[in-house]
Amino acid sequence: MNYCKANLLDLLAIEQLEKDCFPTEAFNRRLIKNLLINTKSFIIKATTPPWKIMGNIIGIIKKENSTSLGRIFSLCILDEYRKKGIATRLVQLLEEEFSLRGIKKIRLEVSTHNTIAQQFYKRLGYSMSTIVLPGFYNDGTDALVMFKNLP
Ligand SMILES: CC(C)(COP(=O)(O)OP(=O)(O)OC[C@H]1O[C@@H](n2cnc3c(N)ncnc32)[C@H](O)[C@@H]1OP(=O)(O)O)[C@@H](O)C(=O)NCCC(=O)NCCS
Repeated sequence: MNYCKANLLDLLAIEQLEKDCFPTEAFNRRLIKNLLINTKSFIIKATTPPWKIMGNIIGIIKKENSTSLGRIFSLCILDEYRKKGIATRLVQLLEEEFSLRGIKKIRLEVSTHNTIAQQFYKRLGYSMSTIVLPGFYNDGTDALVMFKNLP
């Protein structure tokens, strides 16, 4: 398994991965391109030789009340590669990247229905806040907001 930053050459593969993982919420090509180009965002990919991308994580840095906040914008692993520790490694690498960029706090949104992801993030030290975002997802589902402070 290899883990490294994605670049523009990965655009179509990442678009396909997003479609496979999130049938109703997939990011479009234009947004993914912006995320790959923008200096305030990055995508880390997990690949098997020679090139197949089986998972990725997207991080963004946003200014909130004059401090920079890291946000996990997307995380997905293809079905057949789940439960092998790939997402755990991607989150660790994202946290390292955020730390290098001086980020002290990470925020993410997760569907109220997605108990697997909620458990996954809790295990990695993310705490559930009381914030609920009504109708956050395209299908009308609410999102819960989780946070983690980096050391
Ligand atoms: C959530 C997701 C990213 C986890 O990826 P993964 O590579 O399977 O996760 P890991 O193998 O690193 O799992 C680490 C831990 O998370 C928990 N976990 C992961 N998948 C689980 C499942 N299906 N059921 C219960 N617990 C699970 C377990 O505690 C697991 O540790 P263990 O294997 O020692 O039991 C993956 O299921 C996924 O892509 N889901 C669809 C997209 C999604 O929901 N993304 C998050 C949106 S916010």
